[in-house]
Amino acid sequence: MLDYLQKQLIYLPVPPPKPQQLTRQHVLYASSVALCLLLLSINSVAGTILGSKHDFTGLNERAGVVAMSTLAFSDYGSACVYCHIPPEREGADSSDFGGIPGWNRFSPATDTGYNLYDSRTLDNKVRAPSPISLLCLSCHDGTMGVDMTVFKPDGWDSSEDAALHLRLNGGNNLMNCGKCHDGVAAHSIEIKHIGTDLQNDHPISMIYAGLTAKDLDFRPPDNEYGFNNGVKLYDDRVECASCHNVHNPDVNLLLRTGAERLCETCHIK
Ligand code: HEC
Ligand code: HEC
Ligand code: HEC
Ligand code: HEC
Ligand code: HEC
Repeated sequence: MLDYLQKQLIYLPVPPPKPQQLTRQHVLYASSVALCLLLLSINSVAGTILGSKHDFTGLNERAGVVAMSTLAFSDYGSACVYCHIPPEREGADSSDFGGIPGWNRFSPATDTGYNLYDSRTLDNKVRAPSPISLLCLSCHDGTMGVDMTVFKPDGWDSSEDAALHLRLNGGNNLMNCGKCHDGVAAHSIEIKHIGTDLQNDHPISMIYAGLTAKDLDFRPPDNEYGFNNGVKLYDDRVECASCHNVHNPDVNLLLRTGAERLCETCHIK
């Protein structure tokens, strides 16, 4: 079995589509486009995620490999369900099923086991990441398959399930995207793998120190949601999504504002 899978994990060029033949894939594609359009009509903010690195639908065609979503992860036909609860489950509580509250992803097993940033000078210490940052960590900590969603979209046929559910992790084995994404067969994925030790990263999930304007090292926010340049606060907290907007791939590394201005949005010195 392992041998077979290993062979399948070889880079295969996508065969050219056969003309005039309506294959199952075309039908799946058409229905996924319909679903996305439906979802898009909810709010136009979401248009640009399609085709970005967070869009797992059609990733094969874009990257020119067959094996990724037939073997490495399931292609659910909707770009949104890898993070959002599908519209037909609106109102469902994913946390009843072990999910991150409000999101269509399982809580990482390491939920309380993150080594969060700490320092002598840090005012607001936190014990665990908030749900919106757990969402990101559920892929980026490299401990769970990228397709581990709580609800599958209606119409998803489990016979289409991928053979493996690889993790966003640079480790070169059959658990990880690093099997191919090792910097040789495909670009290295290790730099996107944050891990569970967050002590070298910017602190997250703490109450923003500049709220009361009493801390002279921080600017007060422009409004209750954050800053006019797009940098956002969530329930007064700094989260991954304060600095990154996965919905806007136009700015490098999905940052809310150019890296040169990002820090001084909040920090005065
Ligand atoms: C990688 C995870 C991810 C994927 C995939 C994703 N989103 Fe989002 N989405 C988010 C996050 C995080 C937010 C909150 C961002 C913010 O506060 O600005 C969000 C916010 C939204 C909002 C705004 C909700 C609000 O409270 O204002 C809508 C609407 C939305 N997404 C729709 C979509 C649609 C439609 C798709 C598929 C085309 C999609 N999203 C794919 C992570 C994702
Ligand atoms: C469903 C899995 C998944 C979730 C959830 C997810 N990501 Fe990602 N993210 C990825 C993958 C896959 C890549 C691309 C990896 C690569 O190209 O090597 C990526 C890439 C990125 C990048 C680099 C983009 C670039 O242009 O190189 C950033 C920044 C990022 N994610 C931030 C986030 C943030 C912030 C969240 C939470 C709001 C989040 N991600 C949630 C899977 C995910
Ligand atoms: C069978 C080998 C293979 C496996 C397994 C694999 N990939 Fe890929 N992937 C490739 C190749 C080849 C490319 C194109 C060359 C490159 O980007 O380095 C690619 C490209 C990508 C891209 C860039 C596409 C774009 O639109 O920018 C992303 C993102 C990606 N892969 C994510 C993943 C994730 C996440 C996993 C694990 C769940 C994964 N891949 C597993 C071979 C693979
Ligand atoms: C205070 C702002 C800020 C916060 C909070 C933040 N990031 Fe970032 N992130 C950045 C900046 C700036 C970069 C680019 C420079 C760098 O790599 O340090 C970056 C880079 C990244 C990259 C891409 C690495 C690369 O070079 O391709 C990923 C993935 C990422 N962040 C994910 C996350 C996740 C997940 C969280 C929450 C656990 C998070 N970020 C929290 C500012 C932030
Ligand atoms: C959304 C607002 C915000 C942005 C943007 C931001 N920071 Fe921060 N940063 C904070 C807060 C809040 C703290 C924690 C302060 C506290 O509670 O003591 C912090 C803490 C830090 C610390 C740790 C300080 C200590 O006392 O240990 C460093 C280092 C840091 N930030 C650097 C950066 C850099 C570099 C950037 C730009 C890439 C950046 N920050 C962007 C809000 C922000």
